[in-house]
Amino acid sequence: MVSSLLALSLFLFVGAGLSVADTPVSCMYEDIRGKWVFYVGNGGYDNNINCSTMGYEVSKILFQYKLELKYPNIVIDEFNNEGTWTMIYDEGFEVTIHNRKFFAFSKFTGNMFNSTSFCNETFPGWSHDVFGRDWACYYGNKMAGDAAKSSESGELAGSQPVGERLYRSDPSMIEKINSDSSILWWAAPYEKFEKMTVNDMKSITGGHNTKKLRPPKLNKQPNTNDNNIPDLPDNWDWRNVSGVNYVTPVRNQAVCGSCYAFSSVGMCESRLAIATGNQVKVIFSPQDILDCSSYSQACDGGFPYLVAGKYAEDFGLVEEKCNPYQEFERETCDKVARQNCTKYYFTGYQYIGGYFGGCTEQLMREALVKHGPMSVAFQVYDDFVHYKGGIYHHTGLSNRFIPFEWSNHAVLLVGYGRDEKTKTNYWIIKNSWGEEWGEKGYFRIKRGTDECAVESLASQTFPIF
Ligand SMILES: *[C@@H]1O[C@H](CO)[C@@H](O)[C@H](O)[C@H]1NC(C)=O
Ligand SMILES: *[C@@H]1O[C@H](CO)[C@@H](O)[C@H](O)[C@H]1NC(C)=O
Ligand SMILES: *[C@@H]1O[C@H](CO)[C@@H](O)[C@H](O)[C@H]1NC(C)=O
Ligand SMILES: *[C@@H]1O[C@H](CO)[C@@H](O)[C@H](O)[C@H]1NC(C)=O
Ligand SMILES: *[C@@H]1O[C@H](CO)[C@@H](O)[C@H](O)[C@H]1NC(C)=O
Repeated sequence: MVSSLLALSLFLFVGAGLSVADTPVSCMYEDIRGKWVFYVGNGGYDNNINCSTMGYEVSKILFQYKLELKYPNIVIDEFNNEGTWTMIYDEGFEVTIHNRKFFAFSKFTGNMFNSTSFCNETFPGWSHDVFGRDWACYYGNKMAGDAAKSSESGELAGSQPVGERLYRSDPSMIEKINSDSSILWWAAPYEKFEKMTVNDMKSITGGHNTKKLRPPKLNKQPNTNDNNIPDLPDNWDWRNVSGVNYVTPVRNQAVCGSCYAFSSVGMCESRLAIATGNQVKVIFSPQDILDCSSYSQACDGGFPYLVAGKYAEDFGLVEEKCNPYQEFERETCDKVARQNCTKYYFTGYQYIGGYFGGCTEQLMREALVKHGPMSVAFQVYDDFVHYKGGIYHHTGLSNRFIPFEWSNHAVLLVGYGRDEKTKTNYWIIKNSWGEEWGEKGYFRIKRGTDECAVESLASQTFPIF
């Protein structure tokens, strides 16, 4: 615990704390697209396999699997099988082909302060059939001739210890927001934030300034065939569907970059409740994700795609009472205790639109109304921290002392609507900063304009019960 807290504080010290993005690697779509060889090890294992130790052992490599990742999400292997692939933000990629899945993080050297990305190689990753059996480790190398990219992110080194200062809200910014009638939301100082250091604030909002949040521009054509566009209600709110609430209570992540875990459990809780007509109402354990998921980086961040999605499919979620929230990562996963807890499995995880880059507002609304709340992420600017109510949009105003720009924060989309007075469409989103923040722990944000990239990283998964 001490080492992880130390690592966390060092990490945040240079402003690289982040909530959605996790490892220091940064690979773009065009770095990954192209021809790869996957070096696949012996199969036949179960999900106890530890690929961080086995992955590179050449003696265990069973075969080399050649495949080509093509635009926009098509993969073709050397035997002409066709499958699909997606980037997971800028951190790695997942391939599904011939009833097998392959996921690995992209490779980097160095550390949070100074890293080099090798987007032409992966770390050892996990492969198994689509039913979660027959696990093997593998790693991937991009084939020679396909341009390799390595990028330095050393510019952060030497940042100043501004992080140890206490965070102060900016009264003049709050006043400007509240007196400007063109701003559709209002602001307030939060006492609990003023007790936190700038580092603490970064861990709850994200706070990474080297990454691009926007997905690759894949020029996805909206489906213009009218027959395929379902008639959607003008308003939707999973907290009140014909008087019934399918959304679990707002929680507080505290000082830990665990927003992705809260967003994930929130989606799974609601979707299980919806699928069972509210008969199965459980609260899942974000702590289990911090302690036990190899697909995320505990208090340093992670992605709902890999947690509510991949982790919940491969390992299942456990209930809060199995492993109550502690706000920090334990050094190891208590596998024995975990074994004893009921597991809840989810499957069919995907980015809205089918792959990272395929998201649209229309598809988000369809999936929301049809299947339930979903994980989304957006860019937190420092004005957002002051949000008290209304329809959030970035004002461009910045805290004079401490800019929080560029953070990526995972949250839970539960509904949408339209404010007739200001003729503004909005999303309704559940945050994980406690109930006293915003509109009882929720916020509304402009819809249809990709405000703060909120329409770029939506992902969903489906309960098995
Ligand atoms: C895998 O093995 C490495 C090296 O022995 C260890 O540090 C790590 O905690 C293990 N991971 C899991 C998920 O057991
Ligand atoms: C990946 O790129 C790096 C840097 O350009 C290069 O040194 C390395 O050999 C490449 N890896 C492979 C597998 O081609
Ligand atoms: C980052 O690491 C590289 C490779 O180890 C080193 O050459 C470089 O000087 C480092 N940059 C900074 C700013 O520390
Ligand atoms: C739910 O919505 C209905 C219709 O809009 C409204 O009459 C009712 O008061 C709402 N219930 C709650 C608990 O907010
Ligand atoms: C497993 O659960 C049983 C029954 O609830 C309990 O008695 C036992 O102590 C648990 N074992 C562990 C290792 O937690």
